[in-house]
Amino acid sequence: MKSLYIAAAAAMTAALLPAAALQTRAADADTPLLRADVNGDYIINSQDMVLLSKYLLGAGELSDEQAARADFDGDGVIDTFDLIGMRRIYVRNATVAPQGTWIGSGSDGTRFFWFDENSEGTFVRSTEESVTPFSLSKWGDGIDFTLSSGEELSASIAWLDDEHFYLKWRGSEPELFTFGSSVRFDRGPYLKGEYVSDAGGSYKLSTYSGSCGGEDITVLPMGTQARFIFSDGTVKTGDFSRMDKNHFTLKWQDGTTENFTRREITTVDGITYVNGILIANKTYPLPSTYAPGGLTAEFNTAFAKMQAAAKADGMNLTICSGYRSYSYQSQLYNSYVARDGKAKADTYSARPGHSEHQSGLAADINYAGDWFNSTPEAKWLAANCYKYGFIIRYPYGKDDITGYKYESWHVRYLGDETAKLVYDSGLTLEEYLCIDSKYSY
Ligand code: DAL
Ligand code: ZN
Repeated sequence: MKSLYIAAAAAMTAALLPAAALQTRAADADTPLLRADVNGDYIINSQDMVLLSKYLLGAGELSDEQAARADFDGDGVIDTFDLIGMRRIYVRNATVAPQGTWIGSGSDGTRFFWFDENSEGTFVRSTEESVTPFSLSKWGDGIDFTLSSGEELSASIAWLDDEHFYLKWRGSEPELFTFGSSVRFDRGPYLKGEYVSDAGGSYKLSTYSGSCGGEDITVLPMGTQARFIFSDGTVKTGDFSRMDKNHFTLKWQDGTTENFTRREITTVDGITYVNGILIANKTYPLPSTYAPGGLTAEFNTAFAKMQAAAKADGMNLTICSGYRSYSYQSQLYNSYVARDGKAKADTYSARPGHSEHQSGLAADINYAGDWFNSTPEAKWLAANCYKYGFIIRYPYGKDDITGYKYESWHVRYLGDETAKLVYDSGLTLEEYLCIDSKYSY
């Protein structure tokens, strides 16, 4: 029995070199072999030592699985060195408590545990938001957790290496823990939402979990860092910085950066909203039946405020074209096509359904033509309209992005908060939301 096992193990070791890979990992990377746990109960105690000692004395046999776990140093030979190693891990389990953030994979999914130096900690399931504080007391390899609710849970700890241990919960399954960080995990609510990245990624992020391109990921927020753990074990850690509530950047440890833009596209009655903002551009038309019939009440209220403020600065603002119905836009566009040809008309006039004027949220101020560009009113609008909830929708030099040439006179109402965010970003609405404006026909 003994010689057979050694021969088989030696052959295996030779075939699976480097042997170091065998030290702590079984064939299935998800279930590392807990060496020294001879009887396979995920608790390393005198029972395991007795089994191994008897075997070494020729007074007992080991199954192949037991033999694999008894080979503590993984050298393919079961000998007294394994017994010595087992004693060492026995002492370690009795004396070393985990500290820092650890990621558990229990039967109810991924969990984060924080252990501080004073036997206090917190845990949370990746699918939940509310964090449970606990205190713990360690005796031998036993750990008793007292949750803030008063509930008590007991486990034994079995260290695999510096970055892995098992907790064998009493009356339950063993849970493998992987070291996450010496920093306490936090809530990182900044990450929540649907994002696209300039690296072509498409993410759905919750506080502690999410998906990337449809693949589930674990998210570990840690102060100024965020860590994404992919199901194949790939780990990416990035330094987090935020432009505003809809944009953040992760500077990955390989030196590359990935810029994330929140983009949640919904369609309600044929109208496209991105992060709740109604969109009418070359990519996203309004239904031909959409007819609010005039500028919205919000637009009018905000415009009146802006008009009064402009007047106080000696400026005269009036609306020269506000709401335009689908059919009116159709006439307008067709008249431009007749005059300038389709290609040219498309640079300055929206096809029916694609005009913001149909939304009741946009208007042309004073004069819709290049003459307006150099007026004091145009300069005043560019500098101040965001304060009243408007943006200059088609800025200079962004024709390829917005789909239209510069219109100093066309304002779009977004509301105070969003208008300021877009203004501060220096981006067009398309860039801010990471959307296209291109006809598909
Ligand atoms: N002039 C803008 C693009 C429109 O026609 O709606
Ligand atoms: Zn306009």
